[in-house]
Amino acid sequence: MSNKPVIVFEGIECSGKSLHIKNVCNYLKKRSISYLYLREPGGSKNSEIIRKLILNKKSNFNKNTDLFLYSASRSENIQKLKKFHKKKIILIDRFTDSTLAYQHFGLGININLIKKIHNVILDDFKIDFTFLNVVNNKNMLSRLKKRNKLNRYDKFSSKFYQKVQRGYLKIASKRKNKYLIINSNQDLKRNKEIIIRKINDLIK
Ligand code: TMP
Repeated sequence: MSNKPVIVFEGIECSGKSLHIKNVCNYLKKRSISYLYLREPGGSKNSEIIRKLILNKKSNFNKNTDLFLYSASRSENIQKLKKFHKKKIILIDRFTDSTLAYQHFGLGININLIKKIHNVILDDFKIDFTFLNVVNNKNMLSRLKKRNKLNRYDKFSSKFYQKVQRGYLKIASKRKNKYLIINSNQDLKRNKEIIIRKINDLIK
């Protein structure tokens, strides 16, 4: 693996992934190590426009349209990602596993269709490592309640999110050496330390 890996943070709502990725960004900044950060959907000008469209509470696209919009948003990022691939550490808040977990495992869209779309969009761009953040139903619900702004995808039933999370775990179980599962029900400080230790290992 290159010491400029592509690292993705995944997980369902309120699993702590965005907090952890920000913590890693701050850590790298402090050490003057350059990196590229982006979130999906979003991450570039056009993708952010698509993000607003998908996640707007007034939108009511069907699940296939959502798949195409998430894919369009990713497609708009790929040039930027390829430009920095192996030149900078790349940190991404959600990527292709989100589509497999939400659109396939959650919403039942054919997995082969999703894989085909990813083949077209990604070409030879590959993820090196994924932190999968998991949270139990009770903690997810109580954290979600505290959010003052909810988007269209924050409004599924808790059963749906559990299905999505099981999907994530299934994906991770197939490539155990490429995933680290972070139990977000446990001590935050301890999780931060575990992640930073792994990051140091990945970039050395
Ligand atoms: P977040 O940025 O707050 O995590 O919200 C993004 C939402 O979009 C989240 O509910 C997961 C969902 N999503 C998908 O359903 N498929 C995807 O491919 C991506 C990137 C996100």
